[in-house]
Amino acid sequence: MADVSTMSSLKGKDFLTISQFTGDEIHTFLKQALDLKKMQKEGIPHPYLSGQTLAMIFEKSSTRTRVSFEVGMYQLGGSALYLSSRDIQLGRGESIPDTAKVLSRYVDGIMIRTFAHEKVEELAANADVPVINGLTDTHHPTQVLADLLTIYERKGKLKGLKACFIGDGYNNMAHSLLEGAAAVGMDLTVASPEGYEPDPEILSAAKARAEENGCQVGFTTSPQEAIEAADIVITDVWASMGEEAEKEKRLRDFRDYQINEELASLAKSDYLFLHCLPAHRGEEVTAGIIDGPHSAVFDEAENRLHAHKAILKCLMESN
Ligand code: CP
Ligand code: NVA
Repeated sequence: MADVSTMSSLKGKDFLTISQFTGDEIHTFLKQALDLKKMQKEGIPHPYLSGQTLAMIFEKSSTRTRVSFEVGMYQLGGSALYLSSRDIQLGRGESIPDTAKVLSRYVDGIMIRTFAHEKVEELAANADVPVINGLTDTHHPTQVLADLLTIYERKGKLKGLKACFIGDGYNNMAHSLLEGAAAVGMDLTVASPEGYEPDPEILSAAKARAEENGCQVGFTTSPQEAIEAADIVITDVWASMGEEAEKEKRLRDFRDYQINEELASLAKSDYLFLHCLPAHRGEEVTAGIIDGPHSAVFDEAENRLHAHKAILKCLMESN
């Protein structure tokens, strides 16, 4: 069971980035997720959020995040409201602060998927209930918690592992993985073409944190260097939501960064392959890798449910 004192320190908090949590707090979420997963698999009811409601605002598309948060709230005894920005007044120009204040009068938590990260921060600053970042242009922390859960389940540890992310170093996954790896003591090298480096502030903060935690995170333009002897190999789409107009250019810029059989042969023989999905087979990864024996992408997708339930319980449980 997760440590009670760490759990109580999470109550009422927002979940905006991975970097806001200590390694102990991340392990508390992971232990909670494993407990909830076991209860769900064994059919043991766990209505910790009975009577509570989560509002879920989406300004971008979603399959996994939407369904796992909604089903998660249901399994925890509460309910969830799907609010497309097309349908609520936010989409017609009502301000973020007013939206935050109004929703706080009705619901017990707010999850939002949007473009600028500052919008999530503004929502959190004006809400009286916990706010969860369901993806912004620069961060995807709930996905990275599910990734850490998947790695922990498969490898039995996080600290001391060597991971790589090969793809767009400036995207939400790369940034949250840098923050997550640094927090838990896992080495992570991001490999991207020139012009797609991680945000320098996020990278330097992650490097400092990694040093404190006895691991190394860094950047290279060489996918071969990043993947050499890696335990964990991660990629993501080359054009994220909102970057569709750059797709053709990105296909050219990233063509040497595909995770294929030749590149993967440089990883450890028991490497684990992760991708947050949705994936484009034949672009960032070959079908042989994503559908092959090293891939854990569907366990990773399932773990969104268990990780999100842990987040919801730790932030919103009232006693
Ligand atoms: N991985 C992820 O966030 O998937 P969705 O976009 O389907 O929510
Ligand atoms: N980097 C991707 C992640 C999708 C879950 C995007 O932002 O589109």
